[in-house]
Amino acid sequence: PAPGIDAPTDCPDLSALDAAVAACVRCARHAQRVRAVPGTGQAVRPHYLVVGEQPGLEDDAAGRPFQGDSGRLLAAMLAAARLPQGESTYLTYVVKCRAVGGREPSAQEVAACAPWLRRQIALLRPHWILALGRVAAQAVIGVDGDLDELRGGPHRHVPEQGEPIPVWVTHQPSSLLVRSAWKAEAWRDLAGLAAAARTGREI
Ligand code: URA
Repeated sequence: PAPGIDAPTDCPDLSALDAAVAACVRCARHAQRVRAVPGTGQAVRPHYLVVGEQPGLEDDAAGRPFQGDSGRLLAAMLAAARLPQGESTYLTYVVKCRAVGGREPSAQEVAACAPWLRRQIALLRPHWILALGRVAAQAVIGVDGDLDELRGGPHRHVPEQGEPIPVWVTHQPSSLLVRSAWKAEAWRDLAGLAAAARTGREI
C-alpha cells in the first residue's frame, strides 16, 4: 500500500483527500490509471456539486474531470439551465480512476471508491448535488433503481454530519453524446433543478 491516508474518514480537508486519492490502492484500477481524478472546483460550500460516474480518457490524462467533449456538453447544459459554473461548482466522479478501455465500474469498485465521495461531500458541504447517470445517482442517494426512476428531484443525500443535501439526477453527458434524443429529458431535469434553486433558501 502507498504511504499516507487510506481511510477517507481520516482526511481532515480536501487537499489531504486529493493526495490520498492520488495514492489510493483500494481497487485494481490503481494499476490502470494514468492519473487519479479527485475533482476540481470551489472547495468550500460550492452551490453545486456535480458527480459523474468515472473519468474519461482525457480526464485520466489530465487528472481533471469533465475534459473533452463531455465537459463541453456539461458546460453547455449548465449554461442553458442558467446554473452557476466555474467558481461556484465542484466537479467529481464516484469512481476516481479509469480502467483500461473505459469499462464500467463493477459493484466492488464502486463500493471501494464511494467512501472518498462521501468524505468529499462532508468536507465540501455543497448546497445542491447534481448526479449524472445511474451509477452516480445510486451512490449519492444511496438507493438502487433505474436512471429513469431516479431522474429529476429532489432526492436527498444524508451526509456524515449536517443537514440532508438536495440531489437532482439526469443523464450523463457521455450518454447524451451517443443518444441525443435524451437531451430533451436532460434539459427538463435541469430546468427543474434551476427552478428549485431559484426558490431555495440557500441560493
Ligand atoms: N465521465 C462520466 O462519468 N460521465 C460523463 O459524461 C463523462 C465522463
